[in-house]
Amino acid sequence: MKTIKVGLLGIGTVGAGTFNVLKRNQEEISRRAGHGIEIVMVADLDVARAKELVGTHCEVVSDGNLVVSNPEIDIVVELIGGYGIAKDLVLKAIANGKHVVTANKALLATHGDEIFQAAQNKGVMVAYEAAVAGGIPIIKALREGLTANRIEWIAGIINGTTNFILSEMRDKGLDFDTVLKEAQRLGYAEADPTFDIEGVDAAHKATLMAAIAFGIPVQFDKAHVEGITKLEAVDIRYAEQLGYRIKLLGIAKRTSQGIELRVHPTLIPAKRLIANVEGAMNAVLVQGDAVGATLYYGKGAGAEPTASAVIADLVDIARLADADPAHRVPHLAFQPNAMADTPI
Ligand code: HSE
Repeated sequence: MKTIKVGLLGIGTVGAGTFNVLKRNQEEISRRAGHGIEIVMVADLDVARAKELVGTHCEVVSDGNLVVSNPEIDIVVELIGGYGIAKDLVLKAIANGKHVVTANKALLATHGDEIFQAAQNKGVMVAYEAAVAGGIPIIKALREGLTANRIEWIAGIINGTTNFILSEMRDKGLDFDTVLKEAQRLGYAEADPTFDIEGVDAAHKATLMAAIAFGIPVQFDKAHVEGITKLEAVDIRYAEQLGYRIKLLGIAKRTSQGIELRVHPTLIPAKRLIANVEGAMNAVLVQGDAVGATLYYGKGAGAEPTASAVIADLVDIARLADADPAHRVPHLAFQPNAMADTPI
């Protein structure tokens, strides 16, 4: 059995989770992938901490360029986040013929078309299950499980931080700032939490889901984005008295004018399943013309839930690594649809 060699860019919360889950479930994962999967090199600015995490199992460097140019490495996992260095390293990895796994929704929602095009030209795969809804396999569901359907709409609680804040404000009567600090302490929030509370993170994720579901280019700039910062405790209380819960939803919907893409606080009748998704959990509803409504629920953030999605992508790529590139690329790279609807 050939071993697929992996280079990790960034070993923060998710990187450490990926390393640990791969090690713990090595046997099952290798059996399912048909290949051994081994992290052979890690790049992180904090070399000492990275060495502490990985022990003697692999080489640790501070410069990500050494990972993306290492001829031994088959797959580069980008867990740096942001647009700058992450974009540069992802494009270099692709140019060097490496497959890429990334959890970076901000990068893909803003530069996805360029990255997917580069990957397609090079015949390598870019996989990003961990970029949307953490451990919930929603990318796989949209791309594979629901592939027979004309998707009508998607509506999801796809930001754990804001759902945690709204839940705690309602249940415990806590104020916004206190709960946000707690969400940061628990590791749910982005490095820049304004992305969470202003709805930007949810819009990045909704943009990616819309691209897959509707075959449109990745167009974050067309999304209507409204977060939860204007909500007050009194809004949550009034909603409750009227029999509703307030949830920050990411919505992508087919309309006669094109695809609507929006993120905003939404009043949902309290008896609906999705209204009862509490804490940092995520849930995504997808309406397909054949299947009807389907609901996906799980942890949308955190070390091991997100690692679960990263490793699923590693296994997918390992399974397809020996296939003819013409057959494997459409499976994992977004295919822009020539007949795309007009986004509004
Ligand atoms: N900050 C994100 C959230 C992390 O709260 O959902 C996972 O993308």
